[in-house]
Amino acid sequence: MMVSTNPKYKSFVAPLFLVFLLSSSSWVDSFSLEESFLQCLNENSQFSVPYSSFCAPNNSTFNALLQSTAQNLRYLEPSVPKPLFIFTPLFDSHVQSAVICSKQLRIHLRVRSGGHDYEGLSYASEMETPFIILDLAKLRSVKVDIDSNSAWVQAGATIGEVYYRIAEKSKVHGFPAGLCTSLGVGGHITGGAYGSMMRKYGLGADNVVDARIVDANGRILNREAMGEDLFWAIRGGGGGSFGIILWWKLNLVPVPSTVTVFTVAKTLEQGATKILYKWQQVADKLDEDLFIRVIINVAANGGQKTVSTAYNALFLGDASRLLKVMGENFPELGLTRKDCIETSWIKSVLYIAGYPSGTPPEVLLQGKSTFKNYFKAKSDFVKTPIPETGLEGLWKRLFEDESPLMIWNPYGGMMGKISETEIPFPHRRGVLFKIQYLTTWQKGEENQDKHLQWIKKLYNYMTPYVSQLPREAYVNYRDLDLGINKNSNTSYIESIGWGTRYFKENFGRLLRVKTKVDPDNFFRHEQSIPPIPTSEALRSFGSSKRGFD
Ligand SMILES: Cc1cc2nc3c(=O)[nH]c(=O)nc-3n(C[C@H](O)[C@H](O)[C@H](O)COP(=O)(O)OP(=O)(O)OC[C@H]3O[C@@H](n4cnc5c(N)ncnc54)[C@H](O)[C@@H]3O)c2cc1C
Ligand SMILES: *[C@@H]1O[C@H](CO)[C@@H](O)[C@H](O)[C@H]1NC(C)=O
Ligand SMILES: *[C@@H]1O[C@H](CO)[C@@H](O)[C@H](O)[C@H]1NC(C)=O
Ligand SMILES: *[C@@H]1O[C@H](CO)[C@@H](O)[C@H](O)[C@H]1NC(C)=O
Repeated sequence: MMVSTNPKYKSFVAPLFLVFLLSSSSWVDSFSLEESFLQCLNENSQFSVPYSSFCAPNNSTFNALLQSTAQNLRYLEPSVPKPLFIFTPLFDSHVQSAVICSKQLRIHLRVRSGGHDYEGLSYASEMETPFIILDLAKLRSVKVDIDSNSAWVQAGATIGEVYYRIAEKSKVHGFPAGLCTSLGVGGHITGGAYGSMMRKYGLGADNVVDARIVDANGRILNREAMGEDLFWAIRGGGGGSFGIILWWKLNLVPVPSTVTVFTVAKTLEQGATKILYKWQQVADKLDEDLFIRVIINVAANGGQKTVSTAYNALFLGDASRLLKVMGENFPELGLTRKDCIETSWIKSVLYIAGYPSGTPPEVLLQGKSTFKNYFKAKSDFVKTPIPETGLEGLWKRLFEDESPLMIWNPYGGMMGKISETEIPFPHRRGVLFKIQYLTTWQKGEENQDKHLQWIKKLYNYMTPYVSQLPREAYVNYRDLDLGINKNSNTSYIESIGWGTRYFKENFGRLLRVKTKVDPDNFFRHEQSIPPIPTSEALRSFGSSKRGFD
């Protein structure tokens, strides 16, 4: 060849040629996968799929779409793998064909509803590439039927939209789910869904009466068709393991036309430690109408740092009854009539979510998040009060981080009355409260490691004070430090560690349901429930099904 005779020319051309080869081949691959996917969808879908439902990285709106609902900015960093494309279905049948086609074309699929996953599992895969995102953002209808006391809600709706649509039809109906209003009902409710009415009515998942899902074969199944095992698993077993939730049917709950909210903060100088010690003894035993959580962070006190403990509460009743309950059970907080705000249930939702007073409820229809951060979080369940010395050690550790945050969330009431095996969510009787630890930071990798180390150390420090064997954790506060599936055929044995923390003994039944409904592990991510390979299932569990019922 002519070029090869000129050494100078050769060394110049070779890398260029290589670059061309590499980029053109990946260009062709992704092009053909996207095209093949679209073609497959149209062959398999009842309603044709428009090209505008696809968004690939060469589209100028790609980054905005990827970021739209992604909550944890850590998983949008350039170093984190990006999807081949994002597909936004317009009809339920598009979701069915997406499952059929990703299976056929062997493209790994991630499902996103509200994008609040703590470890970005709905929009980033560090386990497997290439992958695509199925974004349910356009499947968000909410149909409330007050006569039957129920609502059918689509997975892509936010929980705030659900609350709004209920309140629009009735001032005395509500639904007990998350405090943060931008949560997507698809991922949120399938992991449990707690909120300020949990002590009275339990979790969102406790109040689901039917569902429509797409299974691993692309079929749409309702409760009757999927059977009670699978219906059990999707109410608390966590997102991305069993199928794609299209719709939930929710049972509405009664709320009074006047509720009361308050926030009272105490610093160390105001006796925060002693008051928090008392809160630990009463928070789970109070009237079920009362939910008092504690938001703990570091604040400035003049030139010095202090710990601020903010008691943030919802009472399903009026202020005078609330003052009576508080006077009898928790006078140490010193709640006064002035602290109490009487309002409607829907406005209490805005208050607890942190919107400024006077924000109209219509803000909920925007589905916008108020919390987008680089963050890492962990959770613990506490069964005996942490002594004051333990709290003092905790304060010391909070002072070591620039942006520490803890949220202590009371249990008891209805939470203690529902059996541990009723749904996969097992943290019930005996739990006084749950702790969420959080650290947030600004863009920048160096900082990240410091915060990640800090929260691990804090978690170690808390070991003697929290649940043990297993040390329980809330699946909706995904924490990949607890263990991960290394690849698509990772052994289920390795999952028992994190599985029992999230689900205790229910993990056995979740493994069994998974093995039955998705033996090929189509629905998978770093912490999805793995199936038990048939040979292992026979060997280990064939003769005895104990622990799996
Ligand atoms: C700011 C903030 C506040 C929060 N507040 C609360 C709270 O008050 N109470 C509470 O209980 N939790 C709370 N959470 C945790 C929240 O419940 C979980 O992060 C939940 O998984 C979010 O659901 P999503 O649809 O928004 O998230 P996504 O990231 O879309 O999904 C979460 C997981 O579920 C999977 N998934 C998504 N859609 C579906 C579907 N349709 N079918 C099957 N699987 C699906 C995803 O693949 C992913 O694995 C909060 C989280 C954040 C970030
Ligand atoms: C780019 O993506 C948007 C969706 O984010 C879509 O509506 C549009 O049609 C896409 N454009 C092209 C040229 O594919
Ligand atoms: C992106 O690339 C695909 C082929 O790879 C092409 O079909 C599509 O039109 C491109 N979109 C934009 C917005 O350039
Ligand atoms: C699955 O497991 C086998 C054997 O353990 C291994 O060789 C293979 O690479 C694994 N597959 C994937 C996708 O990791």
